[in-house]
Amino acid sequence: MSAKNKTGYTVRFAVAVCLVCSVFVCVSAVALRGRQEENKKLDMQVNVLKAAGLVKPSEDIDKLEIGKRYSSIRPVVVDMKTGLIAKDVKPADVNMRKDISDTSKSFAPSVNDAKVLRVPNYGIVYELIENDKPSMLILPVSGKGLWSTLYGFLALDYDTVTIKGVSFYEHGETPGLGGEISNSGWTDLWKGRKIFDEQFNPVFKVKKGAAGSVADDPYEVDGLSGATLTGKGVTHLVQFWTGKEGYGLFLENFRKGEI
Ligand SMILES: Cc1cc2nc3c(=O)[nH]c(=O)nc-3n(C[C@H](O)[C@H](O)[C@H](O)COP(=O)(O)O)c2cc1C
Repeated sequence: MSAKNKTGYTVRFAVAVCLVCSVFVCVSAVALRGRQEENKKLDMQVNVLKAAGLVKPSEDIDKLEIGKRYSSIRPVVVDMKTGLIAKDVKPADVNMRKDISDTSKSFAPSVNDAKVLRVPNYGIVYELIENDKPSMLILPVSGKGLWSTLYGFLALDYDTVTIKGVSFYEHGETPGLGGEISNSGWTDLWKGRKIFDEQFNPVFKVKKGAAGSVADDPYEVDGLSGATLTGKGVTHLVQFWTGKEGYGLFLENFRKGEI
């Protein structure tokens, strides 16, 4: 083979390999999309269940078991401007994380410490149903930490005040420092503490240093050593989402039995 033919052959061979590979990648991406979506949904369900204490942090459960435990969870759509349940909107049609990038599906709150720039018009609250009544409310929360946006779920008792659990499932904070927000040793300390003071102001915060017992120090939880800034981010996001521009109006309506 001449040097010219050899080059032509190499180029044709390389192009053919590229074509075969790209077809393979495209076909697998399309074929796996359904499974990816399903895994994402299951992942979200596990995180809701973790915040509610229905899945232990170390527990690894299969799809069937997730379905069984999640069957007691009822997602409801909340109109974030009025705090009322939007009965005509289906939970499946709400994607809070996606909706905030669409100005027709979200609004700007006032400038806030959590650095939340947009609130979706419709939010989801996950209710734990026991004896046909909501016994726990699980709220999606998010806001800026030191390096990243923190995403989690905050579970409140039906009194809307007492914390039943919290889980942070996505963030980019430093492992061992801010990353400790997803350590159950820390999130367990939240249980039984209170989000609102007696006038229903959202006052719960992450302290710098150690907090007292649940009875002595109900509105604070221990800080994370070496991670004061992530802790501040957590304080701000919890206060934002339990405040009037977050789920505050919904919680107030719920408390008064108006929804
Ligand atoms: C490499 C590196 C990573 C850090 N990661 C975090 C972090 O994830 N969260 C945080 O609050 N502080 C982090 N810090 C520390 C902050 O810069 C700051 O010193 C700390 O939040 C103060 O907390 P302290 O008062 O508890 O020491 C990091 C520092 C360094 C050098």
